[in-house]
Amino acid sequence: MTSEKIENRLIVALDFDTAEKAVDLVEKLDGLVSFFKVGMELQLAEGMQPVNYLISKGKNVFLDLKYFDVPQTVERAVRRAASLGVSFLTIHGNRKNVEAAVRGRGSADLKLLAVTVLTSLDAYDIRDLGFPCSVEELVLQRAKAAAEEGCDGVVASGQEAKKIREAVGQKLLIVTPGIRPEGFPKQDQKRAVTPREAILAGADYLVVGRPITSNPDPWQAAELVLDEMRQGYEAAPRSN
Ligand code: C5P
Repeated sequence: MTSEKIENRLIVALDFDTAEKAVDLVEKLDGLVSFFKVGMELQLAEGMQPVNYLISKGKNVFLDLKYFDVPQTVERAVRRAASLGVSFLTIHGNRKNVEAAVRGRGSADLKLLAVTVLTSLDAYDIRDLGFPCSVEELVLQRAKAAAEEGCDGVVASGQEAKKIREAVGQKLLIVTPGIRPEGFPKQDQKRAVTPREAILAGADYLVVGRPITSNPDPWQAAELVLDEMRQGYEAAPRSN
């Protein structure tokens, strides 16, 4: 079905404003989910404490701070993140930024994920930024550049995942947020897909926030997501 355990491919987003709420959820999911995403809100509220806590508990950490700065600053920030024991780190996916991040990562066991085009940007925004192409062309161009520069993966919506997989084959990990299990409201996610659809589109890891974090029984909600992921692998088994 897949060489990696399906449970290891689910990343729960700790989009909270206190460490207390984050720790409560991590404890409730102990034994089922072992990969968690820490973003700007929690990091600004609590500094590095949540990251250090997760690592001390043997969990995998996806640090989602989307670094984008002059090359030297990016290189040094990535070097620092790598030294903390974080597993995944996001950076913006323009070529120079990726090059600097790859230098900063060095030989550390840290996977760099490029954000190609933020999913909140549409055709108008892309033109406003001065790009003379479609969102899809920019996504694919950046995904290819990220692979060429030694990046490990990309963050991509379920709808982009299939085209990226076709364009770069197995060269990049695809990490997909914007997941909504069958019947769950889409909320502010415009291009949401179900866990099954994301796996069928070629995603390797799914990032899920509110469908799990807002459920009074997060364990059961996570099991539901894992069941739907399993259905995706059963419908289209893969070797990796
Ligand atoms: O609650 P929900 O499942 O929508 O959370 C998705 C998580 O993935 C959030 O932490 C959000 O910031 C992040 N994300 C996203 N879309 C992107 C990149 C990151 O929803 N394109």
